Amino acid sequence: MAEPAAVLQELDLDVRPLSGALGAEVRGIDVASLDDDGFAAVHALLMQYSAIALHGQEHLTDDGLRAFGLRWGKLDIHGYSPTVPGFDDVLMIRSDPERPGTAEGWHSDVSWKVIPPKISMLHARKVPSVGGDTLFCSQYRAYEDLSDGMKAFLEPLDAEHDGRNFNIEEIRRPATHPVVIRHPETGRKALYVNQGFTRRIAGLPRGESSAIIRFLSEHCTRTRYQARVRYEPGTLAIWDNRCVQHSAVPDFGNEVRELHRVAVLCDERPSR
Ligand code: SIN
Repeated sequence: MAEPAAVLQELDLDVRPLSGALGAEVRGIDVASLDDDGFAAVHALLMQYSAIALHGQEHLTDDGLRAFGLRWGKLDIHGYSPTVPGFDDVLMIRSDPERPGTAEGWHSDVSWKVIPPKISMLHARKVPSVGGDTLFCSQYRAYEDLSDGMKAFLEPLDAEHDGRNFNIEEIRRPATHPVVIRHPETGRKALYVNQGFTRRIAGLPRGESSAIIRFLSEHCTRTRYQARVRYEPGTLAIWDNRCVQHSAVPDFGNEVRELHRVAVLCDERPSR
């Protein structure tokens, strides 16, 4: 197989970084017809930028989205969120006047599962005339900016994550993950604590645990670590949950916003 860098050059893609922290938007690629070299190049872009927006995928069907997801690994069956009719592993993320609301609030997808998703992808089917972006935040940068003392304090700790925000009893059982994880592909360290699902730092008294989670929730989502994806119809946003948190921006009033999501499970539990 050719080197991803050489393939990237050969494909002559338009790659534009979205911020100094993470993210890139990419034009000139068709995920439905990618050969193995092209797939390796997209993979390399994701490892480099942590979140990428591949514009121009209007013709991608739900079967095509699943098939592309399966190239990265096994797909998550969420089990609680609404799905696209006929699929148990393609989520329907839709807001309209009858059902307003989006996943505002920073989180890493489904971190309440013992084996959570490594990658998520959202395919934009209907986008509002303005707004409805997704924000992304680099957890590599958030980790790297901590003082040596704080890194040393956090690294041995584990945190409990649950799905209480879904208000479903079965997913209150916590999954425990390290507070700092090592990305199994890039080898870089990242914070893995999020306001949406992290409930408690294991082994700390409640007050200390709450204070640490509060500090990390604020620190991890500082504007300096962020980038914003603006959707066009057909944009495929892909991000790496092992080093990125995200948040939807509900600023589009009663307009319709519809995205279809697949998530690809980690090959093993997140670890230090
Ligand atoms: C999600 O949390 O997966 C959805 C994000 C979005 O709607 O932008």
